[in-house]
Amino acid sequence: MKRIAVLTSGGDAPGMNACIRAVVRTALNNNLDIYGVERGYAGLVKGEITRLGSRSVSDMIHKGGTFLKTARCPEFKDLEAQKQAADALSAFGIEGLVVIGGDGTFRGAKDLSDNFGIKVMGIPGTIDNDLAYTDYTVGFDTAVNTVLWAISNLRDTMHSHDRVCLLEVMGRHCGDIALYAGVAGGAEYVLVPEIPYDLDEIASSIKKSYMRGKTSNMMILAEGAGNRDEIAAYVQEKSGINVKVTNFGYIQRGGSPSMVDRVYAARFGYKAVELLMNDSESLAIGIKDNKVITVPFDEVSKAHKNFDKKLYNIAQILSL
Ligand code: F6P
Repeated sequence: MKRIAVLTSGGDAPGMNACIRAVVRTALNNNLDIYGVERGYAGLVKGEITRLGSRSVSDMIHKGGTFLKTARCPEFKDLEAQKQAADALSAFGIEGLVVIGGDGTFRGAKDLSDNFGIKVMGIPGTIDNDLAYTDYTVGFDTAVNTVLWAISNLRDTMHSHDRVCLLEVMGRHCGDIALYAGVAGGAEYVLVPEIPYDLDEIASSIKKSYMRGKTSNMMILAEGAGNRDEIAAYVQEKSGINVKVTNFGYIQRGGSPSMVDRVYAARFGYKAVELLMNDSESLAIGIKDNKVITVPFDEVSKAHKNFDKKLYNIAQILSL
């Protein structure tokens, strides 16, 4: 293999730039030509492909977002769009592709591989940590740390006013951001899509805690676990205590990547190029028990993510 390309797709995640850098520098170190595709599959379909060099990724390792840009591309489900993408790669003489993104990105990778025989390596890059085959995705650690910063700020003001705070965080259908931020931030209540919760119980527990002299409580709500305004209104009504809602939104998607995300980015990017060099079949790269692993794309879509119930129980015990 002489010429490869890299793209980022789906929601951006901190560490994507560090990962592109790892791919580019590893490729150059192995005398491969390396190209960047702009705006993910949407750009690939349009042939938005440019040559990258070592300096293209200078001063990138610490930056959030993705300098190659990203996009959601529902049209990529169509064979015609995939064909255009395959044609664009072939026009540039590109034989292998590294894609960085979440489950939608991996679906596109599998389609390109299955339908057009392109060698594609998938690197998990999403703040959601919602891919079952890997312990962590690039971006998750940074997002949780950013949420922790928000929790600390909220604690200051909520405590001063004796208020209950409901902080909504992202994660789509996955509660990992809420769970990890909840544990690390000492939240009293963590509401996730994976575990049913009882708002009457929560309201009554908040009321009791006030009677014991605890005047401020923090609820972390994963976006997939319910409507923040309805939940807050219900708990306020039942407990008689003021509940203030904060939707943290896109702030948690940006920012300089943490050490953890940068190191995963480096290890995954290096592995992706190594696999392409070895003419491996198309694979998804991940991490299990701190070892870099690879799995076929088929297994990625079949695997069902296990929610960490033990950690959830710990969160509950520690919040008493
Ligand atoms: O997948 C990352 C994520 O931020 C999810 O947590 C969230 O549900 C979604 O993307 C938001 O998507 P968009 O950027 O298209 O609004």
